[in-house]
Formats: sequence, C-alpha cells, structure tokens
Amino acid sequence: MIRPIVKYPEPILQQPTELVTEFNEELRTLVDDMFESMYAAKGIGLAAPQIGVGKRLTVIDLSNQENPDGKLVLINPEVVETQGRLYEEEGCLSLPEIREKVVRAAKVKVRAQNLDGEWFEIEGEELLARALQHEIDHLDGVLFIFRMSALKRDLILRKIRKLQRAGEW
Ligand code: NI
Repeated sequence: MIRPIVKYPEPILQQPTELVTEFNEELRTLVDDMFESMYAAKGIGLAAPQIGVGKRLTVIDLSNQENPDGKLVLINPEVVETQGRLYEEEGCLSLPEIREKVVRAAKVKVRAQNLDGEWFEIEGEELLARALQHEIDHLDGVLFIFRMSALKRDLILRKIRKLQRAGEW
C-alpha cells in the first residue's frame, strides 16, 4: 500500500525513533509499504518517520527497482565506522525540490538487523554511503537541512515558508 510521505515541518520528522523489537508480519507489511511508497515517489531511500511511523527502520534501493538485489532493508541501523569526507548534492522526499550540498563521510560501515532480526554489516561508499547516512539521520530525527550552514538553511526555510503561504508546499 502506498502511504503518503510527510513533509517538513511535520514534527515526527524531527523526533528520534523507537527501536524495532518485534520481527513479525506487521513489520514485513510496513517494509513492503515503504518500498512501494518510495518507488511511487521516485526516491532511492525512505525512513519510517517519512510515512509517519516513529520506528527505527529504513529502506534503500539505489537501482530504483532495476535490480531485485538492490533492495536494502535496515532495521535498527547504526553507523559503526566512517572514513573520509565528501561534499555533494543531496535531496529528500520530505523536502521536495530542495537540493543542496552537504558534508558526509565518504565511506561508512553500518550494522543493522534484517527482517528476521539477524544482525549484519554493510559497507558503502559514494552514493550508498550518502544514502545510508541520510536515512540513519532521519531515524535520529535529523533532516539534511540541519547538516548545512545556518546561512543556507535559513534561505531554504524562508523559501519553504513562502511556498507554504502560496499553498504550494
Ligand atoms: Ni530524506
């Protein structure tokens, strides 16, 4: 089922999420819904708070449905190692149309659980490193606009308020 994606400044986007403790059918349905909602919105990553669910899980598919092995489900993920720095453009389904450069680690190692509750590790660089950090930030209640300089962020927030007033946000 496609669920609506919530946008900034919806409070759930800025609240830390709760750990997932039950690995059941309900969780599988939630993950299916997250993939469906993400594909419908043409995104490459989606965190549970973005569909209004305050749980620590995220899905990523950099292949955008091209590759069945490209589907990543990360439950209770944590970044365990980082390396280097990259300054690249990023976007977010909860902040549509906004693209800005932010600093991220160039490489990350993440530990997470799968749908059966088993722990695994995944390493990513370039776009995958960026997606992992962006999505895990969501689970900590951090949006990418809060990774920018205050100056850039203020400009963006002003633009959003203008769009809100015009009924276009
Ligand atoms: Ni996002």
